[in-house]
Amino acid sequence: MTVRNTKLAVLGGGPAGYVAAIRAAQLGADVVLIEEAKVGGVCLHAGCIPTKALLRTSEAAGTVKKSKELGIESKIESIHWDTARNRKDRVVKNLNTGVEHLLNTDRITVLKGRGTVVSKSKIMVATAEEEIEVQCEKLILATGAEPVMPLIPGIESRGVLTSKEALELESLPESILIIGAGVIGLEFASMLNPLGVKVTVIEEKDRILSDTDQEMAAELLKIMKRQGISFKLSAKVTKIQETEFGLEVQYDSGDKSITQSCQNVLIAVGRRLRTGMFSSLSLQIENGAVVTNETMETSIKGVYAAGDITGNQLLAHLSFMEGRTAAENALGFEHSMDYTAVPSCIYTSPEAASVGMTEEEASAAGIQISVGRFYFRNNGRALTLLEREGFVKIIANEKHEIIGGQILGNNASELISELTLAIRCRATAEILADVIHPHPSLSEAIWEACGEIAGKAIHK
Ligand code: NAI
Repeated sequence: MTVRNTKLAVLGGGPAGYVAAIRAAQLGADVVLIEEAKVGGVCLHAGCIPTKALLRTSEAAGTVKKSKELGIESKIESIHWDTARNRKDRVVKNLNTGVEHLLNTDRITVLKGRGTVVSKSKIMVATAEEEIEVQCEKLILATGAEPVMPLIPGIESRGVLTSKEALELESLPESILIIGAGVIGLEFASMLNPLGVKVTVIEEKDRILSDTDQEMAAELLKIMKRQGISFKLSAKVTKIQETEFGLEVQYDSGDKSITQSCQNVLIAVGRRLRTGMFSSLSLQIENGAVVTNETMETSIKGVYAAGDITGNQLLAHLSFMEGRTAAENALGFEHSMDYTAVPSCIYTSPEAASVGMTEEEASAAGIQISVGRFYFRNNGRALTLLEREGFVKIIANEKHEIIGGQILGNNASELISELTLAIRCRATAEILADVIHPHPSLSEAIWEACGEIAGKAIHK
C-alpha cells in the first residue's frame, strides 16, 4: 500500500471538486484530487453539457419546422440520432480533456479510484492497481448527487431510464413517458419533442416547476402544451409493466386509473445527495445535506464541503463558487459565500431563467414589492428572431432595489446575468431603466420592465 501526504485532499472531481483543486493549486497548495470516474462530474458527462449539445439538435429541428415563415421552404428529411449523439460525445470529450489539462498544468495529483474517508486526515483510495492511503491536512468533500428512484412497482423494467441512460439511447424512441415535471423532465421533453418523439409528462403536483415563479411556470406549461407535449398533472404513477411492444404505465388521475403505452420511461423525480463515503466523520447533516457555514467549513474544523452535498440548489455554477470558496478558506484566505443572487436556468424551449426571489417568496417574506413586466411580443429583436414568446419580470422592494427576476424567452440563460449583477450590486430599477441598452436587443425587455417600476417605460 502506498501512502501519499498532501496539504489538501479533495474528494470528488465534479464542478465543485475540480474547481476547488485548481484554486488550491493556484494558491500554492499541494493537492490530491480523488475521483472514481472522469473529472467533470455529472455536469460534464451526464448533465448540463450533453443535454445542451443534444438540445442544439432539437433547436435546429425546431428552426426547420418554422422556416417557412422565414421565407425558406424546408423539411426534415431524417434525423440521424447517432450523429447528434456522437457530436455530443465529442463536445464532452473536448471539455474533459480541457479540465484534465488544467489539473495537469497545476500539478494536481489525480487518483482515479473510489475514496472512503476514514478520518478528517485520512482517506483510503481503491484504484485499479492498488490501495492508496492519502494523509491530508485539510479535506474538501464534493461527492455530488445521484437520481432518486421512486418506489413504483416495475421500475426495474427494461426501458425505464434515468437521465444518464436517456443521453446514451441507441436510437430515438417513438414515445416516452417522463415522470416528474421538474428541471430534468422538462429539458428532456424539450429535447425529444422536436425530434418527433411523442412525449407525455406525468407530475404528481398540480403544477410544473414547483420552486419556480408561478406565472413563469404557468406560461411555460402553456407554450410546451402548444408545442405538442402532453402533461398529466396531479397524477401518480402506480405501476410500470413490460409488454411485448415496450412499456405500459398505470397512473391515477383524479378518481380514474389510466394505462398508457410507451417505448421508454424517464425517471426525473429529483436527486439524492451522495454522503455515504464519509459517514465515518459524523458531520452535522440536515435533511440529508452536509451543514456548512458561509466559508463552506463543516461542523468539523478543517473539513469543508462544496457542491450538491451542501443541500443548496443543484447547480454547477453554484458548485464552482462553493468549491472556490472552500479552497480559499481551507488555505487561510477569506471568502464567504453569498446566496442572494444565484441564477438558475432551465433550458427548455423557450428558456426559463430566474434569480433572487420570486414574487410569491417576496410577498410571503412580507416585503412590499413592485413588479415590472415586459413581454417579448412587444420587443423588436424578439419579433425579428421569430421568438415572440415569454416575458421579463422584475421584483423590486420598497426602495425599488431589484431583489428578483424571471425571464422566459429566447436566450434567457444569457440575459439573466444582467439581473444577477443588479441584485448583487443592489441596483435599483431606476438604475437599470437609465442604463442604455442596445437596440434592437432582447435585453431591452429588462430595460422596459425596470422602466415600468420606475414609471419610465416607453413601449408598453
Ligand atoms: P426536480 O426536483 O427539479 O423535479 C422533480 C419533480 O418530480 C417535482 O416536480 C416532483 O413533484 C415530481 N415528482 C416526484 N415524485 C414523483 C412521482 N412519483 N410521480 C410524479 N412526479 C413526481 O428534480 P429533477 O428534475 O430530477 O432535477 C434534479 C436536480 O437537478 C434539480 O435540483 C435541478 O435543479 C438540477 N438540474 C439543474 C439543471 C439546470 O440548472 N439547467 C438541469 C438538470 C437538473
